[in-house]
Amino acid sequence: MSEARNYLREVETLDNGNVEAAYARWAPIYDLTFDILLKPGRRAAATAASKARGPILDVGVGTGLELPMFAPDTQVIGVDLSEPMLRRAAQRVRRERLDHVAGLVKMDATRMAFPDATFACVVAPYMLTVVPEPQAVLDELARVLRPGGEIVLVNHVSGKDDAIALFEAWLDRHMAPKLGWRPQFPWSIIGDWIDRNPRMRLVERRPLAPFGLFTLTRIKRMSAESKKSEESAPLELALA
Ligand SMILES: C[S@@+](CC[C@H](N)C(=O)[O-])C[C@H]1O[C@@H](n2cnc3c(N)ncnc32)[C@H](O)[C@@H]1O
Repeated sequence: MSEARNYLREVETLDNGNVEAAYARWAPIYDLTFDILLKPGRRAAATAASKARGPILDVGVGTGLELPMFAPDTQVIGVDLSEPMLRRAAQRVRRERLDHVAGLVKMDATRMAFPDATFACVVAPYMLTVVPEPQAVLDELARVLRPGGEIVLVNHVSGKDDAIALFEAWLDRHMAPKLGWRPQFPWSIIGDWIDRNPRMRLVERRPLAPFGLFTLTRIKRMSAESKKSEESAPLELALA
């Protein structure tokens, strides 16, 4: 069985119910715990997304720590499954007068209410590892993305067969529902999904601070016309 299929088979370790329960617990202390550690990834995602010409969707916006990092001339909509997290994002938008944030909505990333091809860019910082079905989320991100637009992901990607990977696998089996995320996340979840979707193309995969713990991934939705010429474009790939 492939690495990705094996990972997805263990999906029962996490479901939307325990993700919501976990983030209701995290919400009051989330910023205190995760603001600084995860800042470089948020900044990288917001910088990449701010180049888009058109509306940006932030999926799993959480308490909105990345919202001040988007360029002021963008238009950003944030969605999240957790009301307590979204409430904090709304407070941030008001407090910091983030006029580029056009809306914050409770929505499940696997079933969003937006029409096809709505957004010029979809960002999901630190989100893919917290969902039971990451490939179903990727399908949905691709659906709402305009041709020519990009999906920008930031998340931890597990190494192969080293001591840390074994520890992550153990944590994954025993702690995922309580934590509200999966410590183990093989690259093949994203890689296999791209391989299965011929209109999607990996344009960047780059390790981020601190210590290359997290990875920025940019995936472009090709438009039918651009596919041929862009297939030969060089890929920006910097692996840890
Ligand atoms: C680790 S937090 C990341 C928050 C924010 N992007 C950041 O960088 O701090 C993951 C967020 O994804 C949300 N989430 C989990 N599953 C989701 C789903 N199916 N649909 C939408 N949001 C979801 C959680 O509620 C949580 O707020």
